[in-house]
Amino acid sequence: MPKNLLSISELGADGLQHLLLLTESFRAGRKENRSPALKDKRVAMAFWEDSTRTRLSFETAAKNLSADIISFGAKGSAVSKGESLRDTAETLEALGADCLIVRHSSSGAPLQISRWVKTPVINAGDGCNAHPTQALLDCYTIKNHLGSLEGLRILIVGDIAHSRVARSCIRAFNFLGASVSLCAPSTLMPPEVQTWDVEIAENLEDSLERADVVYLLRIQKERQTEALLPSLREYQHRFGITSKRATLLKDHALIMHPGPINRGVEIDNSVACSERAVVTDQVRNATAVRMAVLYDLLAEDNGAH
Ligand code: NCD
Repeated sequence: MPKNLLSISELGADGLQHLLLLTESFRAGRKENRSPALKDKRVAMAFWEDSTRTRLSFETAAKNLSADIISFGAKGSAVSKGESLRDTAETLEALGADCLIVRHSSSGAPLQISRWVKTPVINAGDGCNAHPTQALLDCYTIKNHLGSLEGLRILIVGDIAHSRVARSCIRAFNFLGASVSLCAPSTLMPPEVQTWDVEIAENLEDSLERADVVYLLRIQKERQTEALLPSLREYQHRFGITSKRATLLKDHALIMHPGPINRGVEIDNSVACSERAVVTDQVRNATAVRMAVLYDLLAEDNGAH
C-alpha cells in the first residue's frame, strides 16, 4: 500500500483486495478484537467538514488498535481566525500525529496536505472527488452478503454529479468485476460520465428488475451551487425507491446507502426498514475496514514497513 490513501485508483485492484482480506481478520474477532498494534501511534482526525459515521468509525478503529487520537474540527478552531489549511495540518503534525485523516469540502485538499506534511494522509472525503474508505466498506458489505462482486449488476441512483462516494465506488466496483449503471436526473449527471466505465440507465424500473445491488445517494444540496431540481417531491416521484418500486427487485437484491439518509426522498421509510436494506451493516463494517487501513499504513510489524 502507498504511504497515503487518497483514492481507489491509486490503491489499485490488488491494494483493494489486500485491504478487504485484512478487514476480514479484524472482523473475525468483532468487539473483542482490540489490539495493541498502534499503541505508540497518534492518529489525527482533521475534519474541516461535518461527519457522523466516517468520523466515529475512524475514531473507534483507532481506539480498537490502541492509538491516541488528536481531534480537530473546523468549528471551534482557529480556522475562524483565518488559519490556513497548511498551518493547521502542520500544527497537527507538530503535535506528534503519525497520520492525518482528512475530510474537506474542497476536492484535492488531502492531496495538497500530503505534499506539505511527512506523515501519511488518509482521505476521509474531499469535495465531490473521492471517499476511498467508504468504497472499501461498501465492497466489503456486498462481499459479505452476496459472496463476490464478480459479475454483479450494481445500479447507483441519485445525485451522481456531487458524489465523491459514487466516484470511488464506481472505481472499486469495476476493479472487483461488477458492472455499474447510473440513474439520475440529467442535471445531476456529471459531464465526465462519458469517460467512466458505466452504463446510463434510461429507465429506473427496468434497471431495478435487473440489479443485484441498488446504491442510493442523497441529494447533496450543500455541494450544489444552483437549483438543479424542480423540487424534492418531483425527485421522489421519479427516482425515489418507493415500496411499490421495491417490489420489482430480485429476491436477493440489496439496497445500500452511505448515509445520511433523507427518508421519504431517495427512499421510503418502509424500504429503508426492510431486510434488504443493509445500511446499518455498512456502518458496522466501517470500523473493521478502517482498522485495516490504519493498521496497513501505521503498524510497525506490518510487512509494508
Ligand atoms: C457521504 C459523504 O459524506 O460523502 N457520507 C458518508 O461519508 N457516510 C455521503 C453524503 O454526504 O451524502
